[in-house]
Amino acid sequence: MSLVEDPVGAARSAPDALAASLESLALTSVRAAALAAAEHAGSGDGKAADGAATEAMRIILGETKGLGTVIIGEGEKDNAPMLYNREELGDGDGPRFDIAVDPVECTDLCAAGLPGSLTTIAFAGDGCLWSPGPGLYQDKLVVGRAAREAIDLREEPEQNVKSVAAALGKPVNEMRVLILDKPRHVELAARLREIGVSVIMPSAGDVAGAMFALLPGTGVDMLMGVGGTPEGIMAACAVKVLGGGMQTRLAPQSDEERDAVVGAGISLDEILDAEDLVRGPAIFAACGITGGTMLGAPRYTAGWVSTQSLIVRPGSYRRIVESTPAPESDSAGG
Ligand code: FBP
Repeated sequence: MSLVEDPVGAARSAPDALAASLESLALTSVRAAALAAAEHAGSGDGKAADGAATEAMRIILGETKGLGTVIIGEGEKDNAPMLYNREELGDGDGPRFDIAVDPVECTDLCAAGLPGSLTTIAFAGDGCLWSPGPGLYQDKLVVGRAAREAIDLREEPEQNVKSVAAALGKPVNEMRVLILDKPRHVELAARLREIGVSVIMPSAGDVAGAMFALLPGTGVDMLMGVGGTPEGIMAACAVKVLGGGMQTRLAPQSDEERDAVVGAGISLDEILDAEDLVRGPAIFAACGITGGTMLGAPRYTAGWVSTQSLIVRPGSYRRIVESTPAPESDSAGG
């Protein structure tokens, strides 16, 4: 799986004003958070990585013109250091916007020094991001543009794969579906393998999984299964921009979560697509912390530090390698 850097035909609309003002903020904040988290890669201390990334992001977002409101962050699910839901960041002198954020997506991989951890953030216009309230998990289907009309969460998983295969013009036994390797997905994976599907099962990372499903040339045709709601909202921002397809439905993983969702008056049955999750234009950005097939880790070489980021914004997506002078204490190696 690798990202193809050609522009997506679907995403060639005129640049949007929101995107223009917030693109560099998204890139600066994910880069700062990735550099901070990378200091803790392999330390075994995921909370320290989360804390460092969160603080780095909070400083950048706090200095911005305008006012961003965190609609959904990642800390509540994992009891991690976090940007708080409803936290407002910025000097207030500019546009208001919504934020979905996970300063360290795949914290365990970062703590273990394994590939796959990223910093991730998404912006949309004020009041445009859906909030799942106390809902922490949702069932997700994500596909690229060519199959956007072929998915339906009401259908059996086998039927969804067959419909997507037909839309992509390939046999079912050439389909590659990414599902997180979790006990809850054992049956799903077995059912898909039974019909000849190749099932790719990383231990974590369904934001990257969604990006692989969305972008051409990655070797992944679909993301399926249950993952976190923050990750789902951020992925939906990328789906909106890239013209892909996405359907979600809340999927509580405990009685406590189920009761909280029902108590908040939020439907457990409603199926929401990317338009429901993100109303209007959006931006998604990520930066590699521990490297992997999607984005490399920060590299310190001869007094410079290079990072790899991805920006998905109205009109284009691109991967960016940015090199800046390394702080004195970090530049001794390499
Ligand atoms: P973290 O940032 O919490 O480590 O997220 C990793 C991840 O794999 C996400 O990509 C996914 O949406 C979520 O965890 C699934 O949650 P869980 O591991 O609790 O099943």
